[in-house]
Amino acid sequence: MYTAQIRELIKKVEATRSARLGSDFPRMTPEQREEVLKEYHPDYKEKGFRKLRIGVNQGDKVPLELADVLEVKSRLGNIELDLNKVHYDVDVLIIGGGGAGASAALEAHQKGANVLIATKLRFGDANTMMAQGGIQAADKPEDSPAQHYLDVMGGGHYSNKKELVQALVKDAPDVIKWLNDLGMMFDKEEDGTMVTTHGGGTSRKRMHAAADYTGAEIMRVLRDEVLNREIPVVEFSPAVELILDSDGKAAGAVLYNVETEEYLIAKAKTVIIATGGAGRLHYQGFPTSNHYGATADGLVMGYRAGAELIFADTIQYHPTGAAFPPQIFGSLVTEKVRSLGATPINSEGEQFVFHLETRDVEASAIIRECLGNNKGIETPTGVKCVWLDTPLIEMMHGEGTIEKRLPAMYTMYKKVGIDMRKDPILIYPTLHYQNGGLLIDEHGQTKIENLYVAGEAAGGIHGRNRLMGNSLLDILVYGRRAGTHAGQKSKDVEVKELKLDHVNAYHQSMEENGIQTDETSPMILPHYTHGRE
Ligand code: FUM
Repeated sequence: MYTAQIRELIKKVEATRSARLGSDFPRMTPEQREEVLKEYHPDYKEKGFRKLRIGVNQGDKVPLELADVLEVKSRLGNIELDLNKVHYDVDVLIIGGGGAGASAALEAHQKGANVLIATKLRFGDANTMMAQGGIQAADKPEDSPAQHYLDVMGGGHYSNKKELVQALVKDAPDVIKWLNDLGMMFDKEEDGTMVTTHGGGTSRKRMHAAADYTGAEIMRVLRDEVLNREIPVVEFSPAVELILDSDGKAAGAVLYNVETEEYLIAKAKTVIIATGGAGRLHYQGFPTSNHYGATADGLVMGYRAGAELIFADTIQYHPTGAAFPPQIFGSLVTEKVRSLGATPINSEGEQFVFHLETRDVEASAIIRECLGNNKGIETPTGVKCVWLDTPLIEMMHGEGTIEKRLPAMYTMYKKVGIDMRKDPILIYPTLHYQNGGLLIDEHGQTKIENLYVAGEAAGGIHGRNRLMGNSLLDILVYGRRAGTHAGQKSKDVEVKELKLDHVNAYHQSMEENGIQTDETSPMILPHYTHGRE
């Protein structure tokens, strides 16, 4: 797959490889980190953002593309709906069928609640399924939740909500045990000890994994368990608006069956938004590692209903998105590749950054190398990028390591004619994660009574930058916490008359603030999926 021209460039990487092997590249000082972030991280590009003109976060800066879906009308604007005609009447409605939704469903069900999962595509079609590198938990003798806490706070530039981080690290060992008991096939040593590795910004090896398809393995056991317990799942039916009752409490959602194009009313005593992130909004034109369903729907519905956003102006660009060939452009090259020893290399064959800086710093250093230092490589399709020297992995850990520890990566590259065991790969940051979301407390509750959020749609846990492996962790910690609390709470809730008054109020506020548009949201699927919604 590599052209003769690219092969020529690879020679420079090969020429320095032996000398680089075993040499420690220095980590940046705090000052150097600050400098590279300010100069090159997309979060600091003022023209990528604007201030919200309406809603709870009026005056706060958010990405342009997010503002564009928040400040438009509801899809229900011209639709006549009879809210008394209820199609589903449950205790706990869970919106989203990824890891957060599935784990919430299991715990709510455990509390004896009558649960419904409504999901946009098929059950399990979500970012969880695509997660690769691992899940963090301090469950080894040389580690502790306190150490994990410090790493999370440091990674998030100490802006994280402390109580949310405390809950995250405290529940983590139990989450691993829970998954193991559910039958998850973790990577283990011969004696049954879990294999753990480093990720960017971790002070201890606490990344647990199932090769490089950790998320798929997690989703496998969760989905099996939901199906075994016969928890109902309605597929191809995204929620398009929350329903509040006459007391202003969350009381269900309007679902849209994308196959029959019908609107369905789901009434519930408690509601959990578990709709994931916003990668498919392609902030600042970046490609994304995200699932097609990641279109910020939960943020849109929650915001219209009056839930507060936090850290919506901070986005994670994963340092290593595939830059070449075009068929895999933007796809994730898991951090585990660097964790196993592969290092970023510029066009001169030089390493220019320690390979496990936190993601925001690592991504910024790669952008600087390409745009500031002009030491990037240009692909035949005109993409500026750098090398990730993957053959180092086999040199450090022995032949066969890549196939054993990174089988998904190896297969992805093999399919496009690149043998990453022998040749380096070309990478550039890809839009991976929203660090913020709808503000929650330790139980996953928002300030709207009976409304919960779990997973990537929730905000506050990771502050302004998340570390690797803490997303698979947070979807499970907060999925389980929200499910438990919402299941319990539903026993004491009496739903009053169903209303969509908040939608009318939002439209009125748009008008009062001079916002005129015929655009609607949530988007459901990105526009380039040919309008098939
Ligand atoms: O690089 C990765 O495997 C991604 C992990 C994460 O976002 O936590």
